[in-house]
Amino acid sequence: MSLSEEKKSILITGGAGFIGSNFVHHWCKNYPDDQVVVLDALTYAGNRENLANIKDKKHFKFIQGDICDRPLIDKLLKEEKITTIAHFAAESHVDRSIIGPDAFIQTNVIGSFTLLESFRHYWNEQGKLKDYRFLHVSTDEVYGSLEADDPAFSETTPYAPNSPYSASKAGSDHLARAYFHTYNVPTIITNCSNNYGPYHFPEKLIPLMCINILLGKPLPVYGDGQNIRDWLYVGDHCSALETVINKGKPGETYNIGGNNEVKNIDLVTILCSLMDELAPDLPVKPSKELITFVKDRPGHDRRYAIDATKIKTELGWTPQETLEKGLRKTIEWYLNNQSWWQPLLSKDYQEYYQKVYG
Ligand code: NAD
Ligand code: DAU
Repeated sequence: MSLSEEKKSILITGGAGFIGSNFVHHWCKNYPDDQVVVLDALTYAGNRENLANIKDKKHFKFIQGDICDRPLIDKLLKEEKITTIAHFAAESHVDRSIIGPDAFIQTNVIGSFTLLESFRHYWNEQGKLKDYRFLHVSTDEVYGSLEADDPAFSETTPYAPNSPYSASKAGSDHLARAYFHTYNVPTIITNCSNNYGPYHFPEKLIPLMCINILLGKPLPVYGDGQNIRDWLYVGDHCSALETVINKGKPGETYNIGGNNEVKNIDLVTILCSLMDELAPDLPVKPSKELITFVKDRPGHDRRYAIDATKIKTELGWTPQETLEKGLRKTIEWYLNNQSWWQPLLSKDYQEYYQKVYG
């Protein structure tokens, strides 16, 4: 039986967040007989609503808890007979890491270490079964910043993180790597570019711009707006991670990207025209009149670009969604799910907004 055909008991950390919850939906749809356990601390970024339509599903369990809680994880791995960990839980927003890095070190470094250490002991006790997996979901930001003519990041690009967020993710990547080389723990690392799609918290560029357009608020573009990101529809990221779990080789790193390099100002302009077309009764139309250049993010990386040749040639994965189609689907989701995002614009969110944008 191949790895993809075996029944798994999968622990998804951070499964109530943006990518984690999309991945839970993806996994439950494709592997309805697998046991799926979500461990999530429900920070400001975690939301039970993201999993509302599967909460009563057979073989699904939600546990509210912290990845830094070693006794909880030791117990959970044993009781649920976990065979695969897909580790998403993290503090994920660069601007928050600039305001307050502490939680980033705690969750991203100490939390990832705690999970790895617990899994190492559990895996040893289980007889070091070769089909077990620890997938560490990481970011292209660990590679630092590219100039316009630099080649895209490959798996051998040296790490050069520039924000407390990316430094904390780099630290956890190094631990995942070390656990393979030192203890043979079957870890795999993925480094992915910017995701977008449903359930994206409105602090991030795309949902923030869509919601501000609906509210007739300024659209804050950092610096000169010429920074470049590579955008990947979240469903494509989920299928890449599924491929890596089923076919990836322990000890390896796989870069995942969308082949969609776009300047921020161009992306915001595209969003404005799609919103003008799709959203009824906008307070300001054309919405691009709301674009406002604001103070740059400190240490703002200029360009990210991913060379995803390895995952394509070795595992056969390529992204399926075009940027235009993915953005349309995303905007439609935000228009149809206002009751999802409205409660997120809470007092805490307004305080955060004030700190970043003044
Ligand atoms: P998110 O902020 O939307 O979700 C993070 C989730 O982790 C939340 O549900 C939160 O409650 C949970 N969490 C935080 N601290 C925790 C703790 N101590 N214990 C348990 N749960 C905790 O993040 P996201 O955008 O979905 O990113 C998920 C992962 O993917 C992260 O590891 C991130 O670094 C990585 N990643 C994100 C992107 C992107 O574009 N968003 C791209 C590449 C990689
Ligand atoms: O590259 C992968 C990373 O993508 C992930 O590891 C992170 O978890 C995820 O948050 C994302 O990081 P970015 O910093 O690239 O995403 P963000 O949406 O915050 O910003 C995208 C770009 O838009 C970036 O160049 C900063 C700019 N920006 C962002 C915001 C929130 C603005 O110009 N204005 C804004 O208000």
